[in-house]
Amino acid sequence: MGRNRLAGGMMTILVTGATGNVGRNVVDLLLRAGVEVRATSRDPAALDLPAEVDVRRADLTEPETFAQAFQGVEKIFLYNQPAGIDGVLSAAKAAGVRYVVLLSSLAAAGRDPDHWIARWHLAVEHAIERSGLQWTFVRPGAFAVNSLLWAPDIKQGRPVRLHYAQSYLSSIHERDIAEVSTCALLQEGHAGARYHLSGGDSITQAEQVALIGKAIGRELEIEDVTGDDVRAELRERFAPRLRELIREGVISPSDPPGIIETRVRYYLEALDGPAEIDGTVERVLGKPARTFAEWAVDHRADFTN
Ligand SMILES: NC(=O)c1ccc[n+]([C@@H]2O[C@H](COP(=O)([O-])OP(=O)(O)OC[C@H]3O[C@@H](n4cnc5c(N)ncnc54)[C@H](OP(=O)(O)O)[C@@H]3O)[C@@H](O)[C@H]2O)c1
Repeated sequence: MGRNRLAGGMMTILVTGATGNVGRNVVDLLLRAGVEVRATSRDPAALDLPAEVDVRRADLTEPETFAQAFQGVEKIFLYNQPAGIDGVLSAAKAAGVRYVVLLSSLAAAGRDPDHWIARWHLAVEHAIERSGLQWTFVRPGAFAVNSLLWAPDIKQGRPVRLHYAQSYLSSIHERDIAEVSTCALLQEGHAGARYHLSGGDSITQAEQVALIGKAIGRELEIEDVTGDDVRAELRERFAPRLRELIREGVISPSDPPGIIETRVRYYLEALDGPAEIDGTVERVLGKPARTFAEWAVDHRADFTN
């Protein structure tokens, strides 16, 4: 494929979060399209990217680390980090960046605008809207990679503990999020769009486990965890992250019980039946979103020893 040129030379796109599930795929897709790719990480030594990627150290919470990284960059794929966002956007503008594609979240569009995840993403969306840069907000729902949480049980042959096993999810493949993001970076016509993305199907968690079993050629057992057992497990699972958020001032020390209850409420609502499949992936890419079965096959290795 030919190099992607703008008047005056090669287009350089900077990918933040390049070690992430989505960012890593964005790097691959941009390279395939013939774009010059620059990638940032807080720990570039740990980055395992193709040699042609120009890797720089930068931290979104320290905007000054981006002054150099943005030089000569036309567009950026941005990981969501409110701390330092105004400084990062000023540095981007000063360096001549003109377009941002933000990895946001469906929570930003949700009915719980006061939930920390919504506030966390809306803070960055609003800063970008104020910045004068052009933008696309990519707002995915639940990532299919969240299912990697089940990998230890599956690998060790234990029943997979599922919170409300019969609740429905429309989990999205990280490759679809990356493809939509790459389209927005490379093609005209996506400025000002807020893309709400879901997966290609809406199935129960129990069905998701069965599909992982099918992909790895083994029937898997599940254990359905409900009610206060879910609350207790969520309290334990979320504790480190919630402590971090309290330390960073994102949530207050009295917020955690409400955050756990909101999660339980989402599970209970999702027992009602399959969610509607959002057609945005298909509208943008011209092909349907990948199904969970496809994700499970792509991730077979993550569930086998
Ligand atoms: N999981 C879900 O269901 C879901 C749903 C909707 C939206 N989201 C959103 O999607 C994002 C996660 O995406 P992902 O799974 O692709 O990421 P990930 O695999 O969790 O990786 C996070 C990436 O962000 C980078 N990063 C983190 N803090 C940074 C900082 N201060 N400065 C610079 N880079 C930083 C990390 O880079 P280095 O460590 O190399 O610096 C890493 O590459 C989150 O914003 C999340 O809220 C997730």
